[in-house]
Amino acid sequence: MLKGKKILLGVSGSIAAYKSAPLVRLLVKAGATVKVIMTPSAADFITPLTLSTLSKNPVLSSMSADDQWADHVHLGRWADLMLIAPLSCNTLSKMAHGQCDNLLLAVYLSATCPVMVAPAMDEDMWKHPTTRRNLEMIRSWGNFIIPVEHGELASGLVGDGRMAEPESILEQVGMVLGSGAILQGKKALVTAGPTYEPIDPVRFIGNHSSGKMGISIATALRAKGAEVKLVLGPIQVPVNIPGVEIIKVQTAAEMFECCIAAFPDTDIAVMSAAVADYTPSAIADQKIKKNDLEWSLGLQRTKDILKSLGERKRKGQILVGFALETENERSNARDKLNNKNADLMVLNSLRDEGAGFGQDTNKVTILDREGGEFEYELKSKDAVAKDIAEHIIRLLYA
Ligand code: CTP
Repeated sequence: MLKGKKILLGVSGSIAAYKSAPLVRLLVKAGATVKVIMTPSAADFITPLTLSTLSKNPVLSSMSADDQWADHVHLGRWADLMLIAPLSCNTLSKMAHGQCDNLLLAVYLSATCPVMVAPAMDEDMWKHPTTRRNLEMIRSWGNFIIPVEHGELASGLVGDGRMAEPESILEQVGMVLGSGAILQGKKALVTAGPTYEPIDPVRFIGNHSSGKMGISIATALRAKGAEVKLVLGPIQVPVNIPGVEIIKVQTAAEMFECCIAAFPDTDIAVMSAAVADYTPSAIADQKIKKNDLEWSLGLQRTKDILKSLGERKRKGQILVGFALETENERSNARDKLNNKNADLMVLNSLRDEGAGFGQDTNKVTILDREGGEFEYELKSKDAVAKDIAEHIIRLLYA
């Protein structure tokens, strides 16, 4: 998978440095040549001997050793990828401010290759405004951030801040090196799945959406290097896409709130969820009991998320919608494209066999604002997602 690739692994001072050992093993096993650079405090957490043995290369840690100057410029140019894992709060801050008081930072500042970082810190540090700002700064320069995971932290508390697992880091390294990562530095927002609109504590209005199309889209955009947020309605199977932040919601209103909050900071938004168009006007506190009379349920309109994003869209943002139609498919889809101010509309026809809810395949026509209509044959949803990603890339860079 990484055959012939040259990777510089920067290790900074964090308890997660113990995971650098299995990470080096995985990278080497995948065929990469790995050179490790440690900050002085990283050696408090893992020995250079462990990492030099596993990488089969000397570990570098100071600007000069044995009267030899560590040539940070050539190290930075030698690599196909620089991966800093774990990235401590201190090293992040120094990267953001151009400080250069150790070899790792000197190489980072000299690197001409893509740089990926896997932060690791306790939740309070992770959520501190300084950390948020520093991360945003290095992200805006094109550095690739591997999201932290939720779980038990060194402090014993449970929360966000755990470094991604080595297997997940390996997968994301493969994506960046394999795909040319054309969407690196771009942020994507994807909705998927159904919404459940509660009637009472035990009943809801829902639909048969499996979320598969949106999950494939989130995966395809991530594989191209985008930082992806997936807002996912209730589905029955657990979902874990390496590097994709998943926000689980139940109702159309919750999905709306998440999307509106994320949209200003989004480059690409793909609304593939099957959002309920109506929700009960009132939710009963207790289970509604039956009687012999006819019963009707009062419904009110939900907010149209795609349309609301279309109204807020700035120049340069790409907005993609889906249209599921049963008749006058292309003209209905074009009306939706225009009315919701989308850039692309992905049309499914329920008349096509193998397309629609629950299937692993889909058959789509993609409409753009220039009047283009691109009809595809029946394919796996993963392959359809790649086609959609290609259209998005064309719009972004054409
Ligand atoms: N959509 C949305 N918010 C809603 C309803 C729909 O964001 N409350 C989005 C869907 O995710 C999809 C697109 O709008 O991308 C089209 O949805 P669809 O239900 O087919 O279209 P409607 O505009 O609701 O029109 P109709 O039901 O009349 O076909």
